[in-house]
Amino acid sequence: MGPLFGAVLARALDAWWEELGRPDPFVVVEAGAGPGALARAVLAAAPDCASALRYVLVERSPTLRKSLEATMPMVTVLPELPAQHFAGVVVANELLDNLAFLVVERRGEGWDEIRVGEDGGRLVEIAFPAAPDLAAEAATLAPNAARGARIPVQHQAATWVRQALGLIDRGRLVVFDYARPTTVLASLPWREWLRTYRGHERAADPLADPGQRDITCDVAIDQLPAPSSVRTQADFLAAYGVDELVAEGKAIWQERAAIGDLAAVRARSRISEAEALTDRAGLGGYSVAEWVVG
Ligand SMILES: C[S@@+](CC[C@H](N)C(=O)[O-])C[C@H]1O[C@@H](n2cnc3c(N)ncnc32)[C@H](O)[C@@H]1O
Repeated sequence: MGPLFGAVLARALDAWWEELGRPDPFVVVEAGAGPGALARAVLAAAPDCASALRYVLVERSPTLRKSLEATMPMVTVLPELPAQHFAGVVVANELLDNLAFLVVERRGEGWDEIRVGEDGGRLVEIAFPAAPDLAAEAATLAPNAARGARIPVQHQAATWVRQALGLIDRGRLVVFDYARPTTVLASLPWREWLRTYRGHERAADPLADPGQRDITCDVAIDQLPAPSSVRTQADFLAAYGVDELVAEGKAIWQERAAIGDLAAVRARSRISEAEALTDRAGLGGYSVAEWVVG
């Protein structure tokens, strides 16, 4: 999450503001804001819509909310999505992969739900026959799953998308996440879509060290309300002018590399951020799902 991503999002916000007929206020809700890096980058890019912009950060963690309130007095910080409807945009970067999900496993003709229990002070998996509704849902989502295949069932993510859409009178919901259809997830070893990280390094068993690891799950895109469009992050960034911003960075770098001042360093890091963000085998392959409302 660097300045370039924020600068491109700022351009996208301007385009959406224009599309809506320049509403004032133009509400932008960023959900799962974390430490606020994206919001800072967007505001630093000084979008044209700035005069109408009401930037709202939604963050569940009280510690992060406290630090956002202390360091970003120009934004509103909330623990939940706002209660009132608005014209504008809801954005969420890597939020849906953080929400709790169920795991089910194909067993013979049926499905087991994989729950978590305790055995001698350790967390362990316990397989239960899935309730009929859940089994029927799993069978619809992954009809050809092999025995032993697992899928996530992401009710919380679907509910969150419905809730966010319900708030928007006119505008759009834009979600950035790693997303694949459930049938693809069913064909993969489950540890490939249910990943854990510790200190930014891939970790192993999701049940080890409870509370000490990030647990993340690829978003099963077909389990969400149908989006208006889904494209790769590389295509999204291209559509909102990443190439122009990178060309600008290259020109500054060429002019100032020998001086080596802050402008030169910023230009150089814009070029390397672009390489990472648009790499289709990495971050560029992330999905950007959009729901247009009204
Ligand atoms: C993986 S982090 C992403 C942070 C930031 N968007 C980024 O890309 O750097 C997910 C964030 O969402 C927050 N979160 C999780 N569930 C949430 C919810 N239901 N509403 C708001 N925030 C939530 C977490 O506390 C965490 O800060």
